[in-house]
Amino acid sequence: MDFTWGVATSAYQIEGAAAEDGRTASIWDTFARDVVGETGDVACDHYHRMPSDVRLIKSLGVNAYRFSVSWTRVQPHGRGPANAKGLDFYDRLVDEQLANGIEPWLTLYHWDMPQELEDAGGWGNRDTAYRLAEYSEMVFDRLNDRVRNWGTVNEPWCVAYLGYEYGVFAPGRREPAVAAAAAHHLLLAHGLIANMIKRPDNNICIPLNIGTATPASDDPLDVAAAWRADGNVARIFLDPLKHGRYPEDVLADLAVRGIELPVRDGDLEIISRTQIDTLGVNFYFGQDFAGRDLDGNTVDASGLPVVREIKPDVPQTDLGWPITPDRFTTLLLRLHRDYGYPLVVTENGAVYPDHPDADGFVEDTERTAYLAAHVDAVAAARAQGADVRGYFAWSLMDNFEWAEGYAKRFGLVHVDYETQRRTPKRSALWFRDRISSAP
Ligand code: NOJ
Repeated sequence: MDFTWGVATSAYQIEGAAAEDGRTASIWDTFARDVVGETGDVACDHYHRMPSDVRLIKSLGVNAYRFSVSWTRVQPHGRGPANAKGLDFYDRLVDEQLANGIEPWLTLYHWDMPQELEDAGGWGNRDTAYRLAEYSEMVFDRLNDRVRNWGTVNEPWCVAYLGYEYGVFAPGRREPAVAAAAAHHLLLAHGLIANMIKRPDNNICIPLNIGTATPASDDPLDVAAAWRADGNVARIFLDPLKHGRYPEDVLADLAVRGIELPVRDGDLEIISRTQIDTLGVNFYFGQDFAGRDLDGNTVDASGLPVVREIKPDVPQTDLGWPITPDRFTTLLLRLHRDYGYPLVVTENGAVYPDHPDADGFVEDTERTAYLAAHVDAVAAARAQGADVRGYFAWSLMDNFEWAEGYAKRFGLVHVDYETQRRTPKRSALWFRDRISSAP
């Protein structure tokens, strides 16, 4: 198989064992406790069930597993020496995967920053980028002999904007200038890490959440609104990575809001010097955008042209996310054309209200259809020339879905949180068959 087929998870969402073996609190421990009301203290108890979870992954027929390392397990407090027990866990996890013929895809930062670093300013503080790089070096030194695929920072847009502008994710701040600084510092962290871990046979990947921004009509105002939306989510990360510069239009819009990115001399060189080997694409849905608000205004309160999101009029998942596989094909072709990177779908999946039968089996017809349509969309993009090298379903199993807690299930495998029993759903069986029949 030269195509990578995998399932994905992240540390805080599945591991549990939140206070064991030296792990300290991350911003998600705090936010989950104080705001969400459900926590990752136990989650899927993966920390204690890791070997059997790896066998479960193998049973799905995938050849890769994307997981993340918990920063506060490896470097409690975000500074100082490595915690041997933390590193040992990931050492065993990697060995277990390799012994089962599964290629590890390791993400260094999947949102669980040490709370103590947030107390020192979090992603608004430039030093956090250097702290992440220091911890990453500990992980790299330990696992580089066995891990080839390295993800740096997962979905920096969500970290920066959902965490620091909209306040709906940890750490729950609503400070637009800090959010913009966070975006830059996350890219800086990516660059520092990429420069440090570059080796000829390493695959350096940054997984970005890039939906598609489609103009609601061909009215130039709608076209401009969609371009702005694309700038704020996609180009603000892709252009510095690829070209070593922020898009002028994005900087100009920030300036209207009185925001200047805290870019220092040399930063953009650090960010773009080591080019990524693959661009990770986390795709869930596409949106339409209009340049007028519902009252017909074309300028918003901050003096910027209106960018109004509109959900396409199509069926939705149980998170209210529109199902837009055709736009997925368009996106992959666009990324291939405009940026030229080899692409890997590092996440794609859906939430539906699952109803397990007495044996815990879930006949998740809708999730299966969602996955099938999106796998087909990848095939269509490849047939039209996009260089897509892999597809990871989100997620291996039901888990802690951030601000949504445990109610919303993304798993291909059902988890009974009372007993921690795992039961592959119909979608998992479908995925296994789809992989085995892949050309
Ligand atoms: C993006 C994130 O990387 C992942 O942690 C999350 O669970 C999924 N999307 C679904 O929202």
